[in-house]
Amino acid sequence: MAQEKLKIAIQKSGRLHDGSVNLLKECGIDVVNGVNKLKAEANNFPLEVYFFRDDDIPQYVEDAVADIGIIGENVMYESNKKVVFVEELGFATCRLSIAVRKGEEYKSASYLNGKKIATSYPVLLQNFLDKNNVKAEIHEISGSVEIAPGIGLADAICDIVSSGSTLFMNGLQEAEMILKSRTVLIKNNKLSEEKENLLKKLLFRIQSVKKAKNNKYILLNAPNEKLKEIISLLPGMKSPTVLPLAEPGWSSVHSVLNENDFWEIIEKLKANGAQGILVVPIEKMIM
Ligand code: PRP
Ligand code: ZN
Repeated sequence: MAQEKLKIAIQKSGRLHDGSVNLLKECGIDVVNGVNKLKAEANNFPLEVYFFRDDDIPQYVEDAVADIGIIGENVMYESNKKVVFVEELGFATCRLSIAVRKGEEYKSASYLNGKKIATSYPVLLQNFLDKNNVKAEIHEISGSVEIAPGIGLADAICDIVSSGSTLFMNGLQEAEMILKSRTVLIKNNKLSEEKENLLKKLLFRIQSVKKAKNNKYILLNAPNEKLKEIISLLPGMKSPTVLPLAEPGWSSVHSVLNENDFWEIIEKLKANGAQGILVVPIEKMIM
């Protein structure tokens, strides 16, 4: 029997496309992509990659057209399909926000009373309006929402903001965030055992890549009389590696540091006499 392949849906173009392709690459999965193709194959992992509009991905995953998919939570909550959350992916975080014309004075949601708001997220927007007791007219459009105020189609919009450059280019300003949205991996709720196993393999790789991104490899030289203090500052995966230097009285110390505590620890290391500190990115981290 031919081996089953896992089918993953990613965004065809837009905010999440590059990050999704990149993640597969970092997982060591080599996708041969023809320009403008709907489907591509990985040549070193049993994976088929489908390129869809991100908004359609939850439906395709629910219908098992794809087994798994990479989307923003915004799309997942809006569509409310029967799909299962698998993992947060840690790239392309964005927000769903209300935006109004530049110069407009927006103090609170009540500004929106009686106004016309264009959006591709009518469900999430309606929830927000209800929560704030606002009555506004929702004008649902599927793309290029940000041009609606400029052509007189709406007074405000509710759309995804990432860098903010789309708003800026269209003379709009962000007025209020209604949802913070992470990029996530979702799956169909009844995958075969074989596909679940493939997903486990993929997930193991994704987690190794994520961990590596949050950590740095650090090498430094320490005077032996300060070794104890310096080692106590370094967590390491088990404990730091200590090697003697050719110069008597000095050691080389190797360890792994988390991005979050990074600068603080570096300062303390220097204060304790560490020299020649090298910080190196980690490609994969297998625990
Ligand atoms: C969103 C949104 C804007 C853009 C905002 O698109 O609709 O076009 O991202 O990003 P910026 O603040 O960095 O300019 P999305 O990727 O969700 O694709 P789609 O709207 O075409 O589905
Ligand atoms: Zn979209």
